[in-house]
Amino acid sequence: MKRTISRLIQEKVLFLGQRKYTQAPVTLRQLHFCSALVYRQHGHPHDTVRIEEMALPALGKHSVRLKMLAAPVNPADINMLQGTYPILPMFPAVGGNEGVGEVVEVGSEVTALRPGDWAVPWDAGFGTWRTEAICEAGDLLRVPRNIPLLGAATIGVNPCTAYRMLHDFISLRPGMTVIQNGANSAVGQAVIQIAASLGVKTVNIIRDRPNRHKLENELKLMGADFVITEEELEGLTLDNIIQELPKPVLGLNCVGGRSGGLVLASLCDGGTLVTYGGMAKKTLQVPAKALIFKNITLQGFWLTQWKRNNHEADVRGLQAMVSSVCDLMKSGQLRPPECVQVPFHRYCQALQATVQSQRKKHVLLI
Ligand SMILES: NC(=O)c1ccc[n+]([C@@H]2O[C@H](COP(=O)([O-])OP(=O)(O)OC[C@H]3O[C@@H](n4cnc5c(N)ncnc54)[C@H](OP(=O)(O)O)[C@@H]3O)[C@@H](O)[C@H]2O)c1
Repeated sequence: MKRTISRLIQEKVLFLGQRKYTQAPVTLRQLHFCSALVYRQHGHPHDTVRIEEMALPALGKHSVRLKMLAAPVNPADINMLQGTYPILPMFPAVGGNEGVGEVVEVGSEVTALRPGDWAVPWDAGFGTWRTEAICEAGDLLRVPRNIPLLGAATIGVNPCTAYRMLHDFISLRPGMTVIQNGANSAVGQAVIQIAASLGVKTVNIIRDRPNRHKLENELKLMGADFVITEEELEGLTLDNIIQELPKPVLGLNCVGGRSGGLVLASLCDGGTLVTYGGMAKKTLQVPAKALIFKNITLQGFWLTQWKRNNHEADVRGLQAMVSSVCDLMKSGQLRPPECVQVPFHRYCQALQATVQSQRKKHVLLI
C-alpha cells in the first residue's frame, strides 16, 4: 500500500472514477484514504476487481466529502467492467455508476449541499463502489432523506429511465396502453408503477417460469394491468389475448431478438417502439410489414446521454426529474425492487450474483 501512496504523491494525481484530479503535493500525513473496488483492465469482474486503499484529494473550495452509504451493482456496471459499454473509464477505475452518499464536509464555496444531506451522482462513471469520495459539488444532486435508503441508492438509473420513457416519446393520457418486455426487470417494475400513477395501462411481458403466477401477482400488486408470457404471445396477436384495452401506443423493449419483435407487433398503427436494452443479446426482429403497413416508429433511449444533454442545457430539468421520482417514492407509489444487501467487503459475492444471467434479486453494496 505504501508504494501505491508514494506513487500517487509522486504523480500528484488521484483518481475518482473516470475523472483525474491533479493537486498540489501532499505529505503522507495530509492524505485521507478510502476503500474502493478498483479495476485496471477489462475482463471478468472476478479477475479484475480488487479492493484497494485509495488516497483522496484534499477538499477544495467547490468540493464535497461524500461518505457512500449504498451502491447497486447493475448490468451496465458489469458491461463497463467487461469493456462492452459505450462509455469506458480511464484506468485505474473505481466501479459503480450509481449510489447514495451522505455529505460529511463541504468546501467554503459550496451552497447547494450541506453536511448531513444525501446526494447521488448525476452522471455515469462516478465510481460509487467506495467508502468515501471527494468530488465537485456540481457532480451531485441532493435527494431527500425521507425516502428509503434503497430507493435513494437506486434512483439515478432505473426509475429515471422509466420516467423519461413514459414522458418523452408519446404524450400519454390516462387510459392509453403501454406494452413492455422484461417487465419484471428493475426498469420494468418502475414502468409499471409510474404508468399506474399516470392512469396509463400496462401490458407486461415476462418469460415463462415455474412460479409464473407468483411473479404475475407481484407485478399486479405494483399496478400491472395484464401480465403475459413471451410464450403465450408467440404465434398470436395481442388482440387474441386481451380485448379489454386499447392497442398499445408505446412499446418498451429491453430484451431485443424475438421478444422485441413481439412488442413491436403488438403496437397500434403509428405506435412507437423504444429500445433501451438488449438483455437477450440478439438482434431486434423488425418485420418490414410493421414499418410499411403500420408506420411504426423505432427509437432508442439512453439515460446517460439524456442526462449529459440536459446537464449542459439546464441542470434544473435533471433536478426536477429526480424530485418527481422522489415524490413518487415518498408517496409510496414507487417502490424500489427487492434487493439483497451485501456488505462492501463481500463484493465478490455481489459481483458474482449480478453476473449470473438468472439473477433473481438486485444487489446492493452497503
Ligand atoms: N438505456 C438506458 O438508459 C438504460 C437504463 C437502465 C437500464 N438499461 C438496460 O435495461 C436492461 C434491464 O436493466 P435492469 O437493471 O432493469 O435489469 P434486471 O432488473 O437485471 O432485469 C433483467 C431483465 O431481463 C430479462 N432477461 C434477461 N435475459 C433475457 C433473455 N435472454 N431473454 C428475455 N429476457 C431476458 C430478465 O428476465 P428473467 O427474470 O426472465 O430472467 C429481466 O426481466 C439492461 O439491459 C440494462 O442495461 C438501460
